[in-house]
Amino acid sequence: MNIGIIGAGNIGATLAKLFVEVGHSVAIANSRGPETLQALVNELGNGAQAMTAAEAAAFGEVIIEAIPYKFYRTLPAAELAGKILVTAGNYYPGRDGQIELGDKAESELIADMLPDTRVVKGFNTIWFKHLQTQGDTSKPPADRRVIFIAGDDPAAKQTVADLIAEIGFAPYDTGSLHHSKIQQPDTAIYNKDITLAEARAQLGE
Ligand SMILES: NC(=O)c1ccc[n+]([C@@H]2O[C@H](COP(=O)([O-])OP(=O)(O)OC[C@H]3O[C@@H](n4cnc5c(N)ncnc54)[C@H](OP(=O)(O)O)[C@@H]3O)[C@@H](O)[C@H]2O)c1
Repeated sequence: MNIGIIGAGNIGATLAKLFVEVGHSVAIANSRGPETLQALVNELGNGAQAMTAAEAAAFGEVIIEAIPYKFYRTLPAAELAGKILVTAGNYYPGRDGQIELGDKAESELIADMLPDTRVVKGFNTIWFKHLQTQGDTSKPPADRRVIFIAGDDPAAKQTVADLIAEIGFAPYDTGSLHHSKIQQPDTAIYNKDITLAEARAQLGE
């Protein structure tokens, strides 16, 4: 699959490596331009190329955004139309400044801005070093590290769940985008090193 990744830092670069390793074609972007990503794509090898954010969005069937939340309005709306966008970003007021969420989940503000895009929240609850090291396809799903997803489009969520399983983690669907509040910073399941079985027990399944 062609995967676009917007954000080439801790999370974006880690996901690029993991997806290249399982055979996907990745286009990765940052804010400074593709020429600043040559060392990274050289390291990632043949499955990776550097692009602008708009080009990466046009390239991907699935696009993952992993940028500071305060920049979400810069996401390329036209190129993301009709695509699946996974939002891995988290809102930290100390880093991102004051953003008025009202009653909305962080992901809903992004979905409001991208009405033609199938938005899924995912990869936001796992520290990048755990993402680098904890995937293990030899384990049964219940024993794998869990990665939470949420969204309003079941087929889009299934596509993202399949990608999560491919890199050795276990997806857990927390529900709607609105309900993705339960996987935002400072919640009981945020940044917790737990398996799918433990997540099920904790969330009362
Ligand atoms: N660190 C973690 O373990 C972790 C885990 C889960 C979720 N998250 C969330 O994921 C997001 C990224 O975190 P991170 O730790 O990966 O951050 P990071 O290492 O600081 O990397 C941020 C990346 O985003 C790029 N970027 C910034 N603004 C952009 C824009 N407008 N368009 C395109 N690219 C842009 C930066 O490119 P330039 O350098 O060129 O500006 C950089 O490559 C944050 O919202 C964070 O809360 C982080």
